[in-house]
Amino acid sequence: MQKESLSSSPDFDANSMTATCLSHEELVEFHNQTKEKWPERCWSDKDLTAKSEIIHFHLSPQVRDEIIGSLEFVRANGLKLNTITQEDFRLPTLAREMPELRQRLDQGLGFVVIHTDLAETLSEQEFEILGWAICNYFGQIMRQGIDHDLRLFTVADKGTANSDPTRIGASAKRSAKHSDNGCLEPRPPCYLGLFCYQSSDQGGESTIISAQSILGTIMNERPDLLSHYFQTYHFRAPQSHVWPSKGPTIQKPILEFKNGELMVHYARIMITPGMEMAGEPLSAVQIEALDFLDEVLERPDLNFKTLLRPGDLLVMNNLAFLHGREEFSPGSTGGRNLKRYWMWRRHIGPGTDPVLLDLAEFDS
Ligand SMILES: [Fe+2]
Repeated sequence: MQKESLSSSPDFDANSMTATCLSHEELVEFHNQTKEKWPERCWSDKDLTAKSEIIHFHLSPQVRDEIIGSLEFVRANGLKLNTITQEDFRLPTLAREMPELRQRLDQGLGFVVIHTDLAETLSEQEFEILGWAICNYFGQIMRQGIDHDLRLFTVADKGTANSDPTRIGASAKRSAKHSDNGCLEPRPPCYLGLFCYQSSDQGGESTIISAQSILGTIMNERPDLLSHYFQTYHFRAPQSHVWPSKGPTIQKPILEFKNGELMVHYARIMITPGMEMAGEPLSAVQIEALDFLDEVLERPDLNFKTLLRPGDLLVMNNLAFLHGREEFSPGSTGGRNLKRYWMWRRHIGPGTDPVLLDLAEFDS
């Protein structure tokens, strides 16, 4: 299959561009170009009410049969989450659907909810393997720790065992809008998968907002703050995402045009302490800019909101969209439990081919 290109516009440089090299007029022009190129990303909650058929995807009986067959192979051979390979779990009927499903993430609304209806019939270990197998069709699964969480991270309330204030995913608290930043890696996850094993009794809805909506709102309402979102900030990495040989922060802008695409990287809970750790505490105007951003991110009319049920797999574009989660109360059978997968796209640009990646990074 021919690789898709995200840099076909001759007006865009292949390299990242930030406000240090772009004037206000250029930012407006690039924003207009990305709106034209990705019109489906410019949605409001009202637009989504009529788009249920592209938000939700139900597995066909053939795919379910293939899953059941693969799980029998897994059981018969004693395979585990960390030993299974993609050759052990083939889903050819789902594979035929995958280009269109990826298209929904890359060019469309930016997310899809896959309803497997399989949570109650599987053990937790089998459920984790199934999520890995489906997500592996979307992209290459990334590690989420140096020597642990190599294939997934369990998002659940871990109580006092979670001592890291940046890891809201390990608590029952409300999680403000953010991107998953994958601080161990030079490239963040392209896709994020959240596979619901158990729901909460109350709360825990997932929310999503598009970078196009964010930038459009800022341009309309506070163009004076625009440049502050294209500046580079220090993000404090979660404790388990810090390389021993490197510093405790990573640097990136909140918004950037990269390869002709508007991208967003954010987590206020990581930026404020990250800037302090770097000896560059946020200035008054930077705080004003981030406060305004936080207010925009919570507007209901700009958000998609859904409650995942057991067996639902939400897969979303983590580069051009932010996500969050409402506070929840523990469930009666152990509490809300989601399996989180991070993926790099194989099917766009250099994908995960080391040759093409090196040529793209070092020969450009
Ligand atoms: Fe997250």
